[in-house]
Amino acid sequence: MSNLVQPHGSGGLKPLLVPVAERAEELKRAQGLKKIPLSSREVSDVLMMAMGAYTPIDGFMGEADWRGACVDMRLDSGVFWPIPITLSAEQALAVSIHLEEEVALVDSETDEILAVMEVTDKYSPDKTLECEHVFRTTDDKHPGVEKVMEQGAVNLGGRVSCLSEGDYPNQFDELYLRPAETRALFSEKGWSKVAAFQTRNPMHRSHEHLAKIAVEVTDGVFIHQVLGKLKPGDIPADVRTEAIQAMIDNYFVPGTVIQAGYPIEMRYAGPREALFHALIRQNYGCSHLIVGRDHAGVGDYYGPFDAQHVFDTLWDGAMATQALKIGITFFCEKCYGMATAKTCPHEDKDRINISGTKQREMLSNNEDVPVEFSRPEVVAVLRKFYANQ
Ligand code: ADX
Repeated sequence: MSNLVQPHGSGGLKPLLVPVAERAEELKRAQGLKKIPLSSREVSDVLMMAMGAYTPIDGFMGEADWRGACVDMRLDSGVFWPIPITLSAEQALAVSIHLEEEVALVDSETDEILAVMEVTDKYSPDKTLECEHVFRTTDDKHPGVEKVMEQGAVNLGGRVSCLSEGDYPNQFDELYLRPAETRALFSEKGWSKVAAFQTRNPMHRSHEHLAKIAVEVTDGVFIHQVLGKLKPGDIPADVRTEAIQAMIDNYFVPGTVIQAGYPIEMRYAGPREALFHALIRQNYGCSHLIVGRDHAGVGDYYGPFDAQHVFDTLWDGAMATQALKIGITFFCEKCYGMATAKTCPHEDKDRINISGTKQREMLSNNEDVPVEFSRPEVVAVLRKFYANQ
């Protein structure tokens, strides 16, 4: 019996990827089905389902689960779920599909068939309601709201059988770890208290400090980066990986952290997404999720600690994975080191607030990045990338 947190649900992990031996035949059958084009976010959801990261859901949500996830953060079954997982279609396509029909889900960028779905529900979601609950705003300048508003008018719900993981396993190789694999890896290392560090950035010293605080109080830290689509201007995944690895190799004790990535696409839903990130990490076997300043936020839609406070609103047993809440981390010139407001008694003027945005600016203007901001080994990797832009 593993000492790791049990998968969400918990009826064990539920990867929806069809066994290899059956895939070729299923794919042949799928070619004869009506094709539903998937947006990049929908593709990322299928890949998450394929590997069991969305345990225990078994496909795209029907109306009851969609409404429950939006309004009460519960599936129809009562299981905690804070973000709707939906597949949309244009009205004309939706009308042409009958209930119980099987359809092929196709990546619209590559034309690859990724999955088959049996459509058991069709409904027109109230997008305003969805955005009010999930994003706390209906402002279409919010990138998550914008995506929801652009979706087709009808949602299709039903069980999904996945036939492919796309190019991710090839492209990312050892970085592409599935929940069953991370669970085996953590167990092999004797870890049971594991903190996940979610990131979509190359790690600067504020990030490093967060991870090190977690190393102090857990068996190990799982640095888990987003491999799905990001906002324009964000650093590509391969560069990020190299930069993060440079930090790990030079500034962490060997064996205390593992770097991996996952194919999710950010929704930028702040507090709701922090909960979702924790739920997903439970499936990967992590007992904790590091939640710092403005986790999964964008612009100033959320307060800096809303994503921490939201964990206090959950009911007992909603999920096993807990937030490891950490304040803003900065470099203090008087302490001469990294600190938070809990460990540094000095004033604002003594503190260097490290920001990824500021660092990006410095790099694109070919300015020096101070050592208080980022490790030189990390900057070297990023500089190489900016030089080729
Ligand atoms: S994101 O998914 O939350 O958008 P990001 O890479 O920006 O990823 O941040 C990773 C984690 O570090 C999040 O938990 C975020 O709250 C935290 N974080 C980033 N910068 C700071 C900082 N200066 N102080 C405290 N926490 C921070």
